[in-house]
Amino acid sequence: MFYKKCFILALQYIKWYNYSWFSVTNRCVNDMKDGVLSLEKFVINGKKPLLGEIYISGAKNAAVAVIPAALLIDGACRIENVPDISDVRILRDVIRQLGAEMEYIDKNTIIVNSHNLNSYKATYEMVRQMRASSYLLGALLGRFKRAEVAFPGGCDFGFRPIDQHIKGFEAMGAKVEIEHGVVKLSADKLVGSQIYLDVVSVGATINLMLAAVRAEGTTVIENAAKEPHVVDVANFLNAMGANIKGAGTDIIKIKGVDVLGGQVAHSIIPDQIEAGTFMIAAAATKGDVTIRNVIPKHMESLSAKLIEMNVNVIEGEDWIRVVGRDEICKANIKTLAYPGFPTDLHPPTAVILCMANGTSTITEGIWDSRFQYVDELKRMGARIKVEGRIAVIEGVSRLTGAPIKATDLRAGAAMVIAGLAAEGTTEIYDIKYIDRGYEDFEQKLRNLGADIKRVIE
Ligand code: EPU
Repeated sequence: MFYKKCFILALQYIKWYNYSWFSVTNRCVNDMKDGVLSLEKFVINGKKPLLGEIYISGAKNAAVAVIPAALLIDGACRIENVPDISDVRILRDVIRQLGAEMEYIDKNTIIVNSHNLNSYKATYEMVRQMRASSYLLGALLGRFKRAEVAFPGGCDFGFRPIDQHIKGFEAMGAKVEIEHGVVKLSADKLVGSQIYLDVVSVGATINLMLAAVRAEGTTVIENAAKEPHVVDVANFLNAMGANIKGAGTDIIKIKGVDVLGGQVAHSIIPDQIEAGTFMIAAAATKGDVTIRNVIPKHMESLSAKLIEMNVNVIEGEDWIRVVGRDEICKANIKTLAYPGFPTDLHPPTAVILCMANGTSTITEGIWDSRFQYVDELKRMGARIKVEGRIAVIEGVSRLTGAPIKATDLRAGAAMVIAGLAAEGTTEIYDIKYIDRGYEDFEQKLRNLGADIKRVIE
């Protein structure tokens, strides 16, 4: 363990000393984080208001769909504003094992070249760390008319079914078999079809778009998800020659085309959930933060709730300023598909409501089990009861620092916000979850005046 720590410190030193080593050393440090390391923790000295400006990175949930989408063409795509997070690095390793190339031009710009893509099989070993691996199904089915992809590893918040994806692939003429934990799809040809999703699913909507762009005829997805990243993926596919209309509404029409390709370039949209996390952090620490590179329309459900909580939210064209006030008012929230309140902002929002002047509720409308963060917040003095899918949060006058852990990505972000708002020192373990989805998280917070450091145990 001692030698591993020395090795990582040495790599970080080299990275700082000579930026030209970036691609080598950064990859080594990150690979250590992805694969081996879960020895890091955040140490936060709280009760400091966040002040200043931050710039939001590209959206994780768009990037992890756009990269598989790039496998649909026999050529190269340039993708900009890609967040530098571990989910993207894991995806890079997976598509390389399938024969595609993914090269970094700089920290946030990649070229995906699928000319040599030669496999439609992604094993459990390849995808076990990546929850978005299901997008390989639609992309490889569209490209090869065959796909074999293992179900991804354990779940953050309950069972994550893919029955709606499968129903749609079958409607397009694919044969579906599930054997030994692997979903196997094959089709002589894909045909356009009318598909009504029984539940609004981001994953199924995107996956079916990926397959349908190469089907014969028109596919209509009804009750489609309207999330901003669904629209971003559709824009990327259209840039490569697809014919998709209606993304962002609940009916999407995809007219299949014979050829996709050309000079494809795309820039990923700003991350709605990262922006929301910083908005909540600003309010919870009673700070004053201007969040740049954001699409305020994507933030409407959160902005409205923060205003209800007595937080001052000012919007510009591509920025939002959040100014916290001493008194936080209680609120009742229900998470819903977009444009409703995002489930991924549920745990961070619970933190601010812990400090509100009364009893609030958060009803989880998307996932069965998203309350693992509750026990951790209780260690910090929070008063929360969970009744079925509802968290009943009784406001307390203060949270106090404690050793806690990140139980999943967004719960991890919530723990950081709690540590920033609490009195004293908070240590957060299992921060590998946070690295999955937030680029330079602690550095961005430090730039706003937070006292947070990453410590290797
Ligand atoms: N569902 C089904 N059958 C399906 C698919 C989904 O019943 O075939 C249900 C799920 O059980 C859930 C609901 O439909 O109750 C919504 O699931 P959805 O398919 O929309 O979720 P997802 O595509 O697996 C994406 C995000 C999640 C985010 C959800 C909801 C990505 C990579 N992940 O997941 O983001 O919570 O949408 O908005 O886009 C995160 O970023 O931390 C994260 C977990």
